[in-house]
Amino acid sequence: MNSKETKKRIDELVRLLNEYSYWYYVKDNPKIADAEYDQLFDELLKHESEFPQFKRDDSPTVRVGAEPLKEFKGFSHDPPMLSMQKAYTIEELKTFQERINRFLNNPIEHDFEYYVEPKYDGLSCELIYKNGYLIGAGTRGNGLKGEDITENAKTIQSIPLRLKENISISIRGEILMKKDDFEKLNEENRKKNESLFANPRNAAAGSIRQLDPKITASRRLYFIAYEIENYEVKEQMTTIELLRKLNFRTSKDPLLTIGINNTFSVFNRCEMKRADFEFEIDGVVVKVNSKEYQKRLGAVSHNPRWAIALKFKARESSTQIIDVEFSIGRTGAVTPVAVLKPVEISGATITRASLHNYEIFNSFKIAKGDTVLVKRAGDVIPQVIKVLEHSGEEKIKFPDTCPACGTKLFKEPDSPIIRCINIECPTQIFEAVTHFVGKEGFDIDGLGPKQIKKFIESGIIKSIPDIFKLNEHPEIIKWDGFGERSYENLIKSIENSKHISFYHFLVSLGIRGVGGVTAKLLARYFPTLEIFLKTEKEEFANIDGIGPIAADFIHSYITNSKNIEVINNLLKVGIDITYLTISKDRELALADYSFIFTGTLETLSRSQAKKEVEERGGKVVSAVSKKVDFVVTGEKPGSKLKKAISLNLRIIDEEEFKNILKKGAKT
Ligand code: IVH
Repeated sequence: MNSKETKKRIDELVRLLNEYSYWYYVKDNPKIADAEYDQLFDELLKHESEFPQFKRDDSPTVRVGAEPLKEFKGFSHDPPMLSMQKAYTIEELKTFQERINRFLNNPIEHDFEYYVEPKYDGLSCELIYKNGYLIGAGTRGNGLKGEDITENAKTIQSIPLRLKENISISIRGEILMKKDDFEKLNEENRKKNESLFANPRNAAAGSIRQLDPKITASRRLYFIAYEIENYEVKEQMTTIELLRKLNFRTSKDPLLTIGINNTFSVFNRCEMKRADFEFEIDGVVVKVNSKEYQKRLGAVSHNPRWAIALKFKARESSTQIIDVEFSIGRTGAVTPVAVLKPVEISGATITRASLHNYEIFNSFKIAKGDTVLVKRAGDVIPQVIKVLEHSGEEKIKFPDTCPACGTKLFKEPDSPIIRCINIECPTQIFEAVTHFVGKEGFDIDGLGPKQIKKFIESGIIKSIPDIFKLNEHPEIIKWDGFGERSYENLIKSIENSKHISFYHFLVSLGIRGVGGVTAKLLARYFPTLEIFLKTEKEEFANIDGIGPIAADFIHSYITNSKNIEVINNLLKVGIDITYLTISKDRELALADYSFIFTGTLETLSRSQAKKEVEERGGKVVSAVSKKVDFVVTGEKPGSKLKKAISLNLRIIDEEEFKNILKKGAKT
């Protein structure tokens, strides 16, 4: 290629690659496979190194990151970047509107048109474009002056290096990391024994405030634009439309609302869907839609009068450590649990939180009085995610011996967990019995934690099969809290529970690695318990859906003589197992096929859909890979779809999925 041809090719590659990045990072809708992109990118690099004079300012190769800086320069904002007043309730929102009405001499109940956007929990930042080119980027700082992060911003793929129009404009928005990218980053750091980020916002901040732009480039950051400065626009809604036209990533679902009630119900809906957002949001921003009004309303101190942040109740909060307890699970795993100074998180008072496991606990170096950050995500047990301040008290040590039975604890080499391996440990027995009689197991009514504890303390239950000998202890009737009726009922439900499906039986044993899904696979595969108990490790691993680790757990369970004794004793007391007699056609229609779901289906819940697949012998997986046969997409599919496209997988919608359920996959 001569120099003229090369220049032409460089221009074309820059245009193509920028276009592909746009589809990938702004539209979440990749147009080519990653490998193809890389190939074109390498070609561009090659041409640019041969003819550096043709390298363009908007070349995607700029995004690999410039040389490290010595320090950040200052970056001034004109007009200043404001903050916002906060509200949590509909009353506060009402007060906000009334204040606007008073200011504008409107009737007090006049309803405004608002534009409601998700409130992204990241780092706000300003981008400066001159004649279409990105020439500067700065963090918010104190609103008047932040830090110059121009070189770092250039590495963020969703920030255009050049606009489609040669205009001069300032754009404001939020730098963010996706929730799943944050999890992945922390997982990698954990493996490398490096410190962890507390949340996606800290991770984004830590990634952007790097003197070496190459580090920023290696983290997957996004920019979501929400404001334009120094440019005439009529409405907030047109602002977002213009940003989209200029190829910026914006919120996918801002809404125009009218008045307080409508706005507050949008906020409520948003809170319900909070977990579905790929970026962390902590509320919505309510903005008066008309820019004319915005101008008239202006700002008081650092807050505009025309906008308010409606915040969700916090899911994270800081509090203090009172003490640490060490609890023992059914498999003997010892979990450190923080006893906390009560703190309110998303409407619940939290007094205890998990400190994860032996390894993470040790990395925290916890002492009484430490201030910690506690997180409560949905229904999940609260967790301590970070130590904010050490009290200076003596560090709490992880015990060497089991707090319940005194046996020396055992640390498995490749696991962060430490456990008590005494099968007769009373706490383990308690956990094992509780699991055994649970809904997915023998489902015995009237045998709750309180009763189980008493039976273990009195020595009536020393091991699981003793449950079935409770009928030999009529003295229980005289115990506090028991009576003839409740004792008889208990004995009756124990008797009834003896007829059990192989599936529930397998679940009840509490074999490590065997939850509902694996138990189902085992119950389908093995015609009898006897055959199951004589199976070699390799055969378990060969069952579709069972990995080598679970196979290992199952095999060590059935080769442990204590476990076999428990099972034999169960059979002796008359446990009667029913095996699956399955209609082969239906059962196996989807055997050998694997499915993955992304987005919300219209007529089936995720768990129903999963059940339908599993009932036909199919598998539902959670990670996209070449092995996936069908990618079922619903409303608002996530990043899995992107990956599926790049792997060229078969993508189907709900209707097609239902067809497959009806007719099988061979169509
Ligand atoms: S508008 C006066 N829109 O919230 C309005 N801000 O509490 C200025 N934020 O510093 C910003 N999402 O970091 C706006 N859709 C959104 C936002 C948003 C998040 C942040 C931003 C700002 C803070 C103010």
